[in-house]
Amino acid sequence: MNDLETEQLLLKILQDFRTTDPLHSGLDYDEIKSRLMPFTVDEPGGIDAIVRAIDAYWDTSVNTGHPGFLRAFWGASEPASIVASLLSDVRNTTMHSFAVAPAATIIETEMIKAISNLAGFPGHGIFTTGGSNSNQMGFMCAREDALPGSSATGLNGQNLRAFASAEAHYSVEAAANMMGIGTDSLIRIPCINGKMDPQTLDEKIIQEKQNGNLPFIILSTAGTTVRGSFDDLNAISEIAQKHGIWHHVDAAWGGAALFSNKHSNLLNGIEKADSFAFDAHKMIGSSMVCSAFIVQEESILTQTMSHTNTGDYLFDDPNKKLSLGRISLQCGRRADALKLWFSWLELGKKGLGRRVDACIDASEHLAHLVEEHPQLSLVSFSYSNVCIRFTPQPNETIEQGNQRVRMVRNYLEDHAKCMILDSMLDNQLVIRFTASHPNVDKGATEVFLSNLIDANEKISL
Ligand SMILES: Cc1ncc(COP(=O)(O)O)c(C=O)c1O
Repeated sequence: MNDLETEQLLLKILQDFRTTDPLHSGLDYDEIKSRLMPFTVDEPGGIDAIVRAIDAYWDTSVNTGHPGFLRAFWGASEPASIVASLLSDVRNTTMHSFAVAPAATIIETEMIKAISNLAGFPGHGIFTTGGSNSNQMGFMCAREDALPGSSATGLNGQNLRAFASAEAHYSVEAAANMMGIGTDSLIRIPCINGKMDPQTLDEKIIQEKQNGNLPFIILSTAGTTVRGSFDDLNAISEIAQKHGIWHHVDAAWGGAALFSNKHSNLLNGIEKADSFAFDAHKMIGSSMVCSAFIVQEESILTQTMSHTNTGDYLFDDPNKKLSLGRISLQCGRRADALKLWFSWLELGKKGLGRRVDACIDASEHLAHLVEEHPQLSLVSFSYSNVCIRFTPQPNETIEQGNQRVRMVRNYLEDHAKCMILDSMLDNQLVIRFTASHPNVDKGATEVFLSNLIDANEKISL
C-alpha cells in the first residue's frame, strides 16, 4: 500500500467516525461472520478489499460512542487519544528499552509522575495492560515486601493471605491465582453499604496470624464495579500499618475522580497506601488500553521484577536504569502513555475533571428521577453508578423481580435501545447504570429512563 492509499483509508475511517451509527447491528454470530468474510485470501485483494473490510467492521461492531452504550466503564475514545494511538502505531516501537523508545520512555515517566502527583505519590510506577494487571502488580510487590527475595526463592512454604472486600473486582481472584497462592487464600471481607468493614478486616487479619498464616496484602477499592462505592482508605491504611501489611488501592474505576476538584475527596487517604491501580481508559476516555500501576517506593519494583536481570541483551542502553522493561511484566509493550498525554495536553486537568463531573452529574440526575418514579426503586447511587430495581408487583417474589430485571435488560439490548449490565447486589439482581463517556448526558439519562419504563411494560413474566 502506498502513502496515498494509506492516507485515503485513514481519511475514510475519520469521515465515517463522525456519522451516527446505530448502537449495534442486531445480527447473530453467523450473520456477522458472513458479513466480515473473507478472512484470508490467496490472491491480493488490494485496498478495495480493505475498504470492504472497513465497511463490514463498521456495520457489525458495537457503536460504543452511542448514548445508549451503558454496558461498560468506557465508550468512544477521546479523539486526542485516537491520534496518539495512531502516532504510536506509525512509529511502532516497544517500551522495553530506552534505546528503541527514547521519547515514549520519557512521556511514560512523566505521565507516571503526573498521575502520582494527583494522588500525593512521589512518582514511580509503570503502564500495564489494564486494571487487572495493575492489581496483579500490587499483589507481586506486596509479596516481595512481605518476603524479601521471594521473586527468586518463591514462598518458602509460607501460607500467604490476601484481603479484599466482598464487592472488590474479580481481578483479585485472578491475581491470587496467578501468584500461585490460590483463590482460597483470598479472604473476602463483608461490606457495610458497599464499603469494606474495617473492624471485620482487623479481626480476620488477627485470626489468620493466629492460624500461622502470613497476611501480605489488603486490597481496598476506590470505585467498586457494581455499586461505585469507595472504601475508607484512611481507616484501612491505619490497619495495614498496624499489622505491617501492604495496602494496594484498586482505583481502576474511581481514580478518574482525582482529576475533579469537586470529587477528588472520594479518594481521601490514598496517599497513605503503598500502591494503586489507575485506568485512563475508563472515565478519562483514553482508547484501550491505558492503565498505570503506581507505587510509593521505586526499589520495590526492581526487586519484584528481578527476573529481568536475565534479559540483559535487551537492556543494552549505557544507562540501563532508563529502560522501563526492567520494571514491567511485559517485554513487548505499546506506548500507551501517549494517549493520556495528548488528552491531557488538549483538555488540561480542568477539562478532564469537567468530563468526570459531567458523568457524575448525569448519574445524579438519573438517580433523582429513579427515586421519584413510582415504578422504580433506587437501590444505590454512588460516584457514577446507579443501581435500580423495579417496584415489585403485588405478591411478586425476589426471584420474579430478578427475572423482570433480566428480561428488561435483554429487551433493551435486543431492541437496540441501550446496552446495559445487570448484576447481583445484596442478593438481588439490579440494573447497573453508569455514565462513563460524554455522550451519556442528562438528556441521555431521560431517554434511558423512558426506555426502561417502556420495556418493563412490554415484557410479560
Ligand atoms: C474496580 C475495578 N478494578 C479493576 C478492573 C479491571 O480493569 P481492566 O478491565 O482494565 O483490567 C475493573 C473493570 O471494570 C474494575 O471495575
